[in-house]
Amino acid sequence: MSSAQRKDDHVRLAMEQQHAHHGRNQFDEVSFVHHALAGIDRPDVSLATAFAGLTWQAPLYINAMTGGSAKTGAINRDLAIAARETGVAIASGSMHAYFKDPSCADTFRVLRAQNPDGFVLANVNATASAENARRAVGLIGANALQIHLNTAQETPMPEGDRSFASWAAQIERIAAAVDVPVIVKEVGNGLSRQTVLALAGLGVAAADVSGRGGTDFARIENGRREHADYAYLHDWGQSTAACLLDAQDTGLPLLASGGVRTPLDVARALALGAAAVGSSGGFLRTLLDGGVPALVAKISAWLDQLAALQTMLGARTPAHLTRCDLLIHGDLRSFCADRGIDTRRLAQRSSPSPSSSSGSSSGSGSGSADVLHELTGSPR
Ligand code: FNR
Repeated sequence: MSSAQRKDDHVRLAMEQQHAHHGRNQFDEVSFVHHALAGIDRPDVSLATAFAGLTWQAPLYINAMTGGSAKTGAINRDLAIAARETGVAIASGSMHAYFKDPSCADTFRVLRAQNPDGFVLANVNATASAENARRAVGLIGANALQIHLNTAQETPMPEGDRSFASWAAQIERIAAAVDVPVIVKEVGNGLSRQTVLALAGLGVAAADVSGRGGTDFARIENGRREHADYAYLHDWGQSTAACLLDAQDTGLPLLASGGVRTPLDVARALALGAAAVGSSGGFLRTLLDGGVPALVAKISAWLDQLAALQTMLGARTPAHLTRCDLLIHGDLRSFCADRGIDTRRLAQRSSPSPSSSSGSSSGSGSGSADVLHELTGSPR
């Protein structure tokens, strides 16, 4: 099967998943403690976020999807226009197709052509040569490079990779060879704490946990198999919320994607420590259903509502959301118990008691609105 055909299949199957999705995921097991006097004034709220030496005007991005065929080139054009119109960052889909067949270069280049001043990320897999990683960055004038990890996608893919042992060393080579920050991401199965710690030692600038709860690539690849005999791999991995909880305080900046459905999910992910939050399947569905105007309207509404939520929660910046008290429920709570994650600290971090403040990075104080406002934070 041609690479172009596979890219078109991914879009079709991802959209079937979007339409079949029941709507619930583990973000529903994260809630904010409501403090009725914590609110601040909207003009005092900023959406700007900083991580790994980068500053973005908003903590939202269109995450990696596509390119490599005529149809997906048109999708990239429209995504790039939406990114330009809303000022959010945008990632290319895997550029492997370009390495195999440079004649599809324009289906990726369009990301930069339509968005000359925006923040654009190139995307390769962990087997790309350092030279190809540099070519990918150069082709679209990328400001950063994503490297995707996708063992649970490759496994049910008939033509998939079966050799994963070299990936860590190759990530380190790529990170040393390119002159832009490298962000390693999953594709919807999540990064564990151990993986994030390993990445921190490989010279990468940030990790996008891209967890379970949205697009499911094991399911997509299984749907491309003649007998769909890998159905037991559906829903493999950890949810995005679980990943963020698991990877607290590793020292590596985190981004979040996977199953982000609403501005509240964005706020939840930021409160769990993400410096920025991405969406792929949901944004693509909006684009394909309603065109560029619909996607621009959706992203604009999300940014507006995120600012509104920060106003209500007393968070002057996205980073300040990491000082909001969070309650963890259900299966996610069990996950935390088994992984040794202290949910009580999360529930009390705006006003730590002496017993819960040891080792915590939270500020001290009475928990009054004033104190909430004065707390400062920076994304992990
Ligand atoms: C993806 N994703 C993806 N990721 C990547 O690093 N390289 C890629 O080429 C692709 N291709 C791709 C195609 C399509 C159609 C979709 C929907 C997604 C994965 C994506 O970046 C993200 O990690 C997951 O989709 C989880 O986020 P959502 O879709 O639940 O918001």
